[in-house]
Amino acid sequence: MSTLGANPARKVILDCDPGHDDAIAILLAAGCSEIELVGITTVAGNQTLDRTTLNAQRVCTVAGITAVPICAGCDRPLVRPLVTAGHIHGSSGLDGPDLAAPQVPVSEEHAVDFIVRTVMESEGDITLVPVGPLTNLAVALRRQPRIAERVAEVVLMGGSAGRGNHTPAAEFNIFVDPEAAAAVFGAGWPVTMVGLDLTRQAGATAEVRRRVRDLGHPVGQMVADMLEFLGAACQREQGVADPPLHDPCAVARVARPGLVEVVDAHVAVELRGELTAGMTVTDFRGRAGPPSSKVALHLDRQGFWDFLVETLARFPR
Ligand code: BDR
Ligand code: CA
Repeated sequence: MSTLGANPARKVILDCDPGHDDAIAILLAAGCSEIELVGITTVAGNQTLDRTTLNAQRVCTVAGITAVPICAGCDRPLVRPLVTAGHIHGSSGLDGPDLAAPQVPVSEEHAVDFIVRTVMESEGDITLVPVGPLTNLAVALRRQPRIAERVAEVVLMGGSAGRGNHTPAAEFNIFVDPEAAAAVFGAGWPVTMVGLDLTRQAGATAEVRRRVRDLGHPVGQMVADMLEFLGAACQREQGVADPPLHDPCAVARVARPGLVEVVDAHVAVELRGELTAGMTVTDFRGRAGPPSSKVALHLDRQGFWDFLVETLARFPR
């Protein structure tokens, strides 16, 4: 839904593992005028690859997103066994809303091939927004290292400068495939880490959930049902009343950078720690090395929710 405006829409490939917050990230990226969504790529994470891909198709079907290719990617992390998050997202990966069979196809092109081809054919204006484990990006880097010079920016949801969520030290996306994360953080391209420090500020309050349900159209209904399921899961599993919408925060940073404040830091991924594997060790003081990433620390909450609800409102009745 990009429109002509003063600034051209930013071209984005959204790499995701839907997942409730991933699904909402798809809607935000596809629905806002600041982004031209050129592709949706899927990866194993919140659930197995077949389920995350099916969920991307189902969400796009409800929302009428028919012109954006969906490419399935890697079905397991680089070296570790797959860990999923059924305790949060359910056995389908997107439990809660009653979703019809998908009407949009999956591309024949593998996600890694799609990423490499799209970036190499571009004018250097593609932003990658990975909001799941970083396996697809790591394999794309291995396949064609020159994508690191041609990507405009990588704005990822993952990591934390402080506490983790899947383990005390590690955030889920990085925990699932830390070797891939290490490759992405170390590739020399501009990386922004939209991690838990930021996304924990994006808890969907009762007021937000009411605003979404009041939209009264199919997309609003679907998202309201997602938030209800996710809210119950987060309350049960994490003792959190307002479910954080992690992945849309990365999209918001790309679409409206002023909503998400960042600070330069050096980020390294712990690979060997018995208790700390997948920790994103973040140094703001420059002792571990020069700044390698931007780290998101503060969210304009009101601006974020207004952006999300206004974007959801644009989908057809
Ligand atoms: C991340 O983990 C997943 O469960 C969510 O979709 C999000 O990408 C948060 O830690
Ligand atoms: Ca995700």
